[in-house]
Amino acid sequence: MRKLNLFLGSVLVLFMFGISSCGNKAKEMVTTENFGSFDGKEVSLFTLTNAKGDVVKLTNYGAAIVEVNVPDRNGDKANITFGYETLDGYLAGDAYFGKVVGQYANRIAKGKFTLDEVEYTLALNNFPNSLHGGPAGWHSRVWTAEVLKGTDFPAVKFTYNKPDMEEGYPGNVVAEVVYNWTDDNELIMDYKVTTDRRSVINITNHAYFNLHGSGNGDILDHEVLIRASAFTPVDPTLIPTGELRPVEGTPFDFRTPHLIGERIGEEYDQLILGRGYDHNFVLDNVEEVDAEVYDPSTGRVLQVITDQPGVQLYTGNFLDGTQTGRGGKVYQYRSGLCLETQHFPDSPNQASFPSVILTPEEPFLSSTTYKFGVR
Ligand code: GAL
Repeated sequence: MRKLNLFLGSVLVLFMFGISSCGNKAKEMVTTENFGSFDGKEVSLFTLTNAKGDVVKLTNYGAAIVEVNVPDRNGDKANITFGYETLDGYLAGDAYFGKVVGQYANRIAKGKFTLDEVEYTLALNNFPNSLHGGPAGWHSRVWTAEVLKGTDFPAVKFTYNKPDMEEGYPGNVVAEVVYNWTDDNELIMDYKVTTDRRSVINITNHAYFNLHGSGNGDILDHEVLIRASAFTPVDPTLIPTGELRPVEGTPFDFRTPHLIGERIGEEYDQLILGRGYDHNFVLDNVEEVDAEVYDPSTGRVLQVITDQPGVQLYTGNFLDGTQTGRGGKVYQYRSGLCLETQHFPDSPNQASFPSVILTPEEPFLSSTTYKFGVR
């Protein structure tokens, strides 16, 4: 009997130890610190450390990526994404650094769309259009945060409950993004969006990258590959004209790698209208990797893998040195590039583009990965 008790006791101790060590494992991979408060809600800074010792920092203000610290080919680590030192920086900043953008990422022409014969009107924050979900879109909200436990990698989940008609979009919408930081330096972003009423959805992450290290020079010497055979040309207000233009023979052909600076100054109508690259590429979606950025000087590589039909290449054409980021770094003209995976801009008004209708019956599920490596 005593033996049996001892045996059961040991099993219980082992079981409890197993539970607590498994629970602690995830906890140690993610640390949480106070980052201030906004709108009566607590804002935190989360530090995710993978088995390699490489670090990603996130905040629940705008569900944003704050830092990505990864090595170059000599093993020297640097933060390669844009972020602010403090919450006040985020509150004052206007360029969506690392943020999750919704309910409709990119532009909607004249801030109007019709769904089921009802016209909806949005704020015009990028005259004459509505941009990135409006002035108080999801990028400017405090999301609920949860450090996931029992996961193989550090992972944090952010949730935003958007009330019906906030920023003009119908539906009580629940948006979730889970950031997973794997031991292979993949930042996997899993999105889930549900609604109680028919609506529209386009969600992206707006991270800026400079593979030299953020704040260190421009991105004109970055080599870019985008597996897209067409892009969506825009009008002077950056709204797609509806044309799907083949990239063949244009400065938009990145199906083989090209330096950003190689053709950006060409007298090509779309480069002039966009002040550089600020366009949606129609992804071929045939290979695993949809886009790749390589910095020959440091050897750093960023790969983008997505299930979305488009990606916006934005070459920081509106950056002007007025934003100061982490470590006192000043973000100058074209010092960062974004690859915003998405549905096409203005899709609610363009019947020929893939549908962006969100219904109560079917959650919107999507995944995009930024994978960091060296060559
Ligand atoms: C991009 C957009 C640009 C600019 C930028 C924010 O997604 O395509 O035109 O608005 O966001 O400054």
